[in-house]
Amino acid sequence: MKWRALIFVLAAAALCLGFGARVREHSLREAAEASGMLIGTAVRPAQLSEAAYASTLAREFNMLEPEDVLKWEVVHPEPQSFDFSQGDQIVEFATRHGMKVRGHTLVWHQQNPKWLTEGKYTSGELAQILEKHIKTVVGHYRGKIFAWDVVNEAFDELQPGKLRSTIWRDRPGIGLAGNGSSYIERCFRRAHEADPQALLFYNEAGAEVVNPKSDAIYAMVRDFRQRRVPIDGVGFQMHVANLRADVASISANIKRFTALGVQVHITEMDVALPVDPNGDPRPEDLQKQADIYREVATACLSHPGCTAIQTWGFTDKYSWIGWHSKKTEGAALPFDRNYGAKPAYEALRDVLAAGRP
Ligand code: XIL
Repeated sequence: MKWRALIFVLAAAALCLGFGARVREHSLREAAEASGMLIGTAVRPAQLSEAAYASTLAREFNMLEPEDVLKWEVVHPEPQSFDFSQGDQIVEFATRHGMKVRGHTLVWHQQNPKWLTEGKYTSGELAQILEKHIKTVVGHYRGKIFAWDVVNEAFDELQPGKLRSTIWRDRPGIGLAGNGSSYIERCFRRAHEADPQALLFYNEAGAEVVNPKSDAIYAMVRDFRQRRVPIDGVGFQMHVANLRADVASISANIKRFTALGVQVHITEMDVALPVDPNGDPRPEDLQKQADIYREVATACLSHPGCTAIQTWGFTDKYSWIGWHSKKTEGAALPFDRNYGAKPAYEALRDVLAAGRP
């Protein structure tokens, strides 16, 4: 009798353990790796010393991108000096944890240092400064950063389909103003020379759906591909506002871009919610937010050329949305302020675990 009881207990324990292993929930990273996807997040190096931040990052993601520290104002603080210390910290963390690193960004109209924006340089001088920047920064991370946002947000917000007027294009520009996207082409060519293995992306906001802005980017990318300008991908930022995402249009847009032979990365996803003065969202909005994460991720996985999903930070403790909306919005990311998984996290994990259709 005793033996029978013992066998029964052992069998029950084994069953429980087996069952436990089967239902053990995977991390985002495990789910993504099983599906051959990259799941990434923007990172602020100052937070890497926080244990919960670092452990969540290493457990949940297989790709990182410096949120700010590879922008000009940080990495190129003086005309003759570069500061890679913070970028290197992120790359070192990624290497230690077997993660890939995206680079962001080489050419943008924001977060540029005063010496550059107020320097009154001629087009010839600016062209030299820009080429040296690309060569030095891409060269420093050659073999370490696998994909670069070479140019960020070059199309205008207010004039649909037109290139934005910036220091790089026409104020005074690098000497190619009036020549359409040829200043962008020049940047891609220089980045390719600095690291021929790196994947080169054009990254944009507000072009996730089929609209005049994405039409113009599509025309540029098609032209670049036809003329063998080295472009490998397009990044759609995916900062979702007002809980509205036209997923059918996002999917159609991903489809037409990947049909050009370029990859698509979702590069900066967050879904901002209205928050009270404590920063707390309405509980019912968390579910709507999860649905948007689920639908966007599903749209990505349904196109083989959509290879990465990245969120703009991962914990609501550190997100640009609060600052950007003067604290009226927030709670935009998959983890709450205490690193607890939100419904958006479960949604992303479910889609990644299910894999491509
Ligand atoms: C944001 C960062 O998150 C903030 O920390 C910074 O103060 C401003 O820039 N599109 C981009 C990102 O391509 O670089 C921006 O990042 C958000 C919008």
